[in-house]
Amino acid sequence: MAQYVIRGGTPLVGEVEIGGAKNAALGILAASIMTDETVTIDNVPDVRDTSVLLEAMEGIGVQMHRIDRHTVKINGSNVRNVNIEYELIKKIRASYYLVGALLGKYREAEVPLPGGCNIGSRPIDQHIKGFRALGAEVEVEHGVIHARAKKLVGAHIYMDVVTVGATINIMMAAVMAEGKTTIENAAKEPHVVDVANFLNSMGAQIRGAGTDVIRIRGVSRLHSAEYSIIPDQIEAGTFMFASAATRGDVMIKNVIPKHLESITSKLIEMNCEVDEFDDAVRVVAARGLRATQIKTLPYPGFPTDMQPQAGVTLALSEGTSTITESIFENRFKYVDEVVRMGANIKVEGNTAIITGGGKYSGANITAPDLRAGAALCIAGLAAEGVTVVDDIHYIERGYEDFDSKLRAMGAQIEKTESEREVRKFKLRSKIVS
Ligand code: UD1
Repeated sequence: MAQYVIRGGTPLVGEVEIGGAKNAALGILAASIMTDETVTIDNVPDVRDTSVLLEAMEGIGVQMHRIDRHTVKINGSNVRNVNIEYELIKKIRASYYLVGALLGKYREAEVPLPGGCNIGSRPIDQHIKGFRALGAEVEVEHGVIHARAKKLVGAHIYMDVVTVGATINIMMAAVMAEGKTTIENAAKEPHVVDVANFLNSMGAQIRGAGTDVIRIRGVSRLHSAEYSIIPDQIEAGTFMFASAATRGDVMIKNVIPKHLESITSKLIEMNCEVDEFDDAVRVVAARGLRATQIKTLPYPGFPTDMQPQAGVTLALSEGTSTITESIFENRFKYVDEVVRMGANIKVEGNTAIITGGGKYSGANITAPDLRAGAALCIAGLAAEGVTVVDDIHYIERGYEDFDSKLRAMGAQIEKTESEREVRKFKLRSKIVS
């Protein structure tokens, strides 16, 4: 089993280039089958979640032509069936975007429900509520969601909770429905806007994405498009916190600084210097880190996907911090692992109380999910000694070239496949440090 082995203690210094947003890509790739014409998508991150989705799409007859590592041409005119293979799709939660895309185009979808990170109970009632409001019959049986409709008709849909997934899914199902759809209390995340922009580039008529009311006027067909996916807010945020935790100086390039505002403001409260440029941010942690209070919220609030990276960094900051997790209940699974590395964190309900000023020492730890896995690597980079991170397949779901991007900024990190390689790394890295 592959592991990351890290010798910590070296400040990250240098530049890192951010790739396309994984969560936008998943919506956009699924939506690209909604036209019979060929669609070209650029800036697709080469991570496991996108490859699994592309493979599942090929499985139902979608034609795929990879132009280069980050560009793919997709043609959905030959979709043979609307029944997605379980073995593939159980691995990623965003498989459910194929329900909206297939239902919207073919008026029928059969998709196994969903895998992805185990970060809490992840209901899909709002997706189903939206599909039903548009006129679909929806059943969930034996772990498979089956949605079908004679026709889809625009509707007024109020979302009971702010959900990214349901907002995107309903948007896709509604773009070719008859008449007008209004989604109220919609999610405003940058990737919701990106999927809407992509659908509009194919001829859809969606207005208001990025606000909490999205209005869609149904069109009869969608056409070809060329589209470039926005930069990944969470990948960028992860490197911003990695810079802070290692007392580094990192220029994070190819970002939209506006999307990073909640992250930037927390880092400033923590006594980091953050400089914003047109498409880059620089995070310098020359001074001692300070405690702060964080509550995860839907965009533009602080993202739940950044909570673990913030948590491991706050454990190194002077003073007492709290983190309140208000989106998913099971997102503190990294805490037990960093406590073993020396952090002083207590979890009470949905709040973590972090007594800062601690130091990490290297340990053997296990990534419990995608973002927690990245956070544990940050702890390893800041630790004294060697940390071995297991189950890095979670991290590879969402980060492209994670280890080599860190190495380029001076980190001593390697992907290893055996005990022998770990031993060799320990010897070699000792010599360097
Ligand atoms: C997406 C992201 C994930 C991120 C999350 C919140 C993708 C592939 N994943 O997940 O990385 O952590 O947004 O920003 O884009 N809920 C319901 N009923 C529903 C749907 C959701 O009650 O039908 C609740 C959830 O339990 C959760 C909240 O709504 O408490 C937000 O979930 P949602 O925004 O839907 O998350 P995902 O789209 O699954």
